[in-house]
Amino acid sequence: MPTNRTFTMIKPDAVENGHIGAILNQITEAGFKIKAMKFTQLSRRDAELFYAIHKERPFFQDLVVFMSRGPIVVAILEKDNAVEDFRKLIGATNPENAAEGTIRKRFAKSISENAIHGSDSDENAAIESSFHFSGRETF
Ligand code: CMP
Repeated sequence: MPTNRTFTMIKPDAVENGHIGAILNQITEAGFKIKAMKFTQLSRRDAELFYAIHKERPFFQDLVVFMSRGPIVVAILEKDNAVEDFRKLIGATNPENAAEGTIRKRFAKSISENAIHGSDSDENAAIESSFHFSGRETF
C-alpha cells in the first residue's frame, strides 16, 4: 500500500449518536480522499484480532466489547502525509486532551468510547487496511 494512505474506523459510539455524516464531511473537507469504505460490524473475535497489540492492557476486554457492540464505518483514506495529518485531525486518544475542533473533541465522550480510530504508522495502516478490505474493494 502506498505510504500516503491511512486507515480509519468510525466507532460504535459515533455511529449510535448519528455522527457518520458529520465525521465523513470533516474528513473529506480536510483533503482526504476515500479509497475504500464499508459499513460493517466486528465480532468479538474480530475485535480481539484487530486490537491484539493491546491484549495485555487492562482495558482490553472492555475495548473488545465496545468495538463489537454495533456497526462501524471502516475506510482507507489518501492524502500526502496521511497517517500524521489524520492523527492531527482526530486529536488525542483522550478527548479531554484533544485540541479544539478535532473529531474527538467534537464527537467523543471518553477515552474508551472515543468516536474514531486512526492508524499510528504506515505499517499499521497497511495491516489494518488489509484486515478489512480485499484488493478488489480498494481503489
Ligand atoms: P484507538 O486509537 O482505536 O486505539 C486503541 C483504543 O483503546 C483507543 O483508541 C481507545 O478506544 C482505547 N483505549 C486506549 N487507552 C485507553 C484507556 N486508558 N482506557 C480505556 N480505553 C483505552
